[in-house]
Amino acid sequence: QLIRREDYRPFAWNVPQVALDFVLGLNQTRITARLDVERNPVAEADPTLRLNGDGLTPVEIRVDGAVVQSWVMEGADLVLTLPGEAHQVEIVTEIDPSANTQLMGLYASNGMLCTQCEAEGFRRITFFPDRPDVLSTYRVRMSGPKDQFPVLLSNGNHVDGGESAEGVHWAEWYDPWPKPSYLFALVAGDLVARKDVFTTMSGRKVDLAVWVREGDLGRTEHAMESLIKSMKWDEERFGREYDLDTFNIVAVSDFNMGAMENKGLNIFNTKYVLADSDSATDGDYDGVEGVIGHEYFHNWSGNRITCRDWFQLSLKEGFTVLRDQLFSQDMGSAAVKRIEDVRVLRAAQFPEDSGPLAHPIRPDSYREISNFYTATVYNKGAEVIRMMRTMAGEERFRQGTDLYFDRHDGEAATCEDFVAAIEEGAGLDLAQFRLWYSQAGAPRVTVELALEDGEAVLTLQQSAPATPGQSGKQPMPIPLRIALFDRESGQHGGEQLIVLTQEQQSFRFAGFDQLPILSLNRGFSAPVAIDREIAADDLVFLAARDDDPFARYEAMQDLIVGHLKKAIGGHLSDDDRAAARAAIGTAFRAILTDDTLDDLMRGELMILPGASYLAEQMLVSDPAEIHAEREGLKAWLGAHCGAELQAIHQRASGVSYSRDAAARGLRKVKTQALVYLAAGKPELAAGLAQDQYQAADNMTDRQGALMVMAGLESPDRDAMLSDFYDRYRDNPLVVDKWFAIQAQSLHPGALRHVKELAEHPDFTLRNPNRARSLYMAFAAASPTFHQADGEGYRMIADVILALDPINPQTAARFVPFLGRWRRIEPKRAAMMKQELERIAAAPALSRDTYEQVSRSLG
Ligand code: ARG
Ligand code: ZN
Repeated sequence: QLIRREDYRPFAWNVPQVALDFVLGLNQTRITARLDVERNPVAEADPTLRLNGDGLTPVEIRVDGAVVQSWVMEGADLVLTLPGEAHQVEIVTEIDPSANTQLMGLYASNGMLCTQCEAEGFRRITFFPDRPDVLSTYRVRMSGPKDQFPVLLSNGNHVDGGESAEGVHWAEWYDPWPKPSYLFALVAGDLVARKDVFTTMSGRKVDLAVWVREGDLGRTEHAMESLIKSMKWDEERFGREYDLDTFNIVAVSDFNMGAMENKGLNIFNTKYVLADSDSATDGDYDGVEGVIGHEYFHNWSGNRITCRDWFQLSLKEGFTVLRDQLFSQDMGSAAVKRIEDVRVLRAAQFPEDSGPLAHPIRPDSYREISNFYTATVYNKGAEVIRMMRTMAGEERFRQGTDLYFDRHDGEAATCEDFVAAIEEGAGLDLAQFRLWYSQAGAPRVTVELALEDGEAVLTLQQSAPATPGQSGKQPMPIPLRIALFDRESGQHGGEQLIVLTQEQQSFRFAGFDQLPILSLNRGFSAPVAIDREIAADDLVFLAARDDDPFARYEAMQDLIVGHLKKAIGGHLSDDDRAAARAAIGTAFRAILTDDTLDDLMRGELMILPGASYLAEQMLVSDPAEIHAEREGLKAWLGAHCGAELQAIHQRASGVSYSRDAAARGLRKVKTQALVYLAAGKPELAAGLAQDQYQAADNMTDRQGALMVMAGLESPDRDAMLSDFYDRYRDNPLVVDKWFAIQAQSLHPGALRHVKELAEHPDFTLRNPNRARSLYMAFAAASPTFHQADGEGYRMIADVILALDPINPQTAARFVPFLGRWRRIEPKRAAMMKQELERIAAAPALSRDTYEQVSRSLG
């Protein structure tokens, strides 16, 4: 059944207070929930109280202390009729956490108990108005065997505890901040903590703890440091202070997503907590810092101000992603972080926006909300708010967010509330800008630059593609940071911000008697696709000289994309290919040898545009052709710049481990160099990979070497893979890497390897990290996913069908890989579609998978 945004109605009852009592057991947990309910004066009067449930049967129900029988089940929901204005409703339920393979609600993981309630998991614990606009204070009591569950945690502050019987203990937690049910959390298990203290700007002392399993304590230092940095940063940059006496983070190895911002008790996938140099790459360290920041920042953008309904998800997610991006920019290299974020947007969000699952950042309807935790809601949502910040400037944007936090504190708000607060606080007119919330699809901007009477005339045109359910779009405001470089001096007269608001518009710039070189959408100021004719020489100039690091990266990408687009269409003579490669080679060599560049940035500039971004450039594409041309260019660059690449690899070798930027930069260019050499000079690269692997004193180097080796048909390949496995077989996060490296490798036998790995004793579909490490890595990256016989498609469809009854949320996440069929050449498209149809025909499909499959076929 389809849920529509326009159908929102406030709930008929308020629930100011909730008391929960858990009698904990892995196989049986008994929950007594006491709800104080009272009529909501702003809602339409309704004597029925509808409480959501999912797979629950009530054991006992009392109203105002007396057992009642006058309740009915409507589907999975419990419906009571209440005569008066205010009542106390008490409900007993019983659940089996160890049977909960969906990992929503209360479940068992590795002998401990934990929860995940966003979006609609609380209804799997007890009957409740499980919607984000019902805010309550929670008092939680839990008891259980002390040896099995020595640590008992919930939201808020620990208020009491003790021993109730021989070997049984209990704890009581109270969270004074009213919150929706999706922010409830409980953890019980045998855990140890790294503890610290943070003093807030007003002088309040907060006890911090990162809880993990005993053997993992040594890998928690970075998480704790990241938490402390996040708390400080939010005070300084957004004026936000923490508001409880305790902040707990718990790492759990079975988790559907990255992490969860439960009030005062964040629960994390171990992947985003545990890190040490032996087992985590530099990228993993960044992931931990970013996600710790993200969940912490939700305390204000999400918890203190939550969402009125799930259509407003981007209110908290888009804003919080922007906040975590800005945090990471401040903690490391801002330029590199921006490039990485744009790369993610292009690889994950652009395909979503141009395919059957396209939706606005504030969707209009859904069947299963879990399917809308998307790159569009999160990452495009962040870009939309970033545009407001660009138009307002940092200071005025801060006034806007101050007003938002101040005005809506304690409320369940809407995206409209946010825009209105920024509009007023920052002094912007956002009337037309609101279209970014309602229209799906990335606008395409066509660019023309001409010279007229000593003026440079920039003519821009925007068009937005039709998306499912939306045609005939209106022009949106597109803020573009630009600079015009003088050809003689190689300088520009200052960056400017122009805002394209109409379908077509011209901007004039005086003082040019020669056509300047245009640097456009600097910093990626707008999430749009740019269409322009520009000479390769001009791109070579910008790639070498632009003072905006993103624009420099972009020029290099454009140069390569422009060439590959032509080459993939088969429209290139050998001479033309040689000429294009020569231009790219010149720019690439300049990047390799420019000693004013820091290595982190150099490593970024060296990365070729991804296959999915290239596919985006074409209406319909052949994945095999894209792969062949892209690898062909990589091999040519590897051979053509072999000496420079080898020099980089050598310069970066023999440097001992440190986490400073210089050392990280060296590790980055070292593996990048190896990647190109592997394509251009595979035998040489196999030797260097072997050296790098043997000399490695950290995971970044070791994984980089193994990744390169895994793609080669080298006699040393198997030995390196088994050495890696033997070394790390007891560390599940590294075993995940071992699976992923093989699944996403460039090796022509990758599909066969994946099938063999599925039989490995360490493989299981029940752990989401493990399932993704094999199959997500494969579908997202292996060229053999698109193998011409359709075997890759068949395998992923089989995975979806096998995973759906176990964990529908994770199963549904595989559907988009097949869902792109319309953009693939007809032979493969037919096979992909056929697999989608096979899934659709399966009996008892989950709502999650059904929705994604039917939209993909629709
Ligand atoms: N709010 C969490 C975050 O952004 C994501 C939780 C989503 N969970 C889910 N089951 N859909 O960090
Ligand atoms: Zn979030």
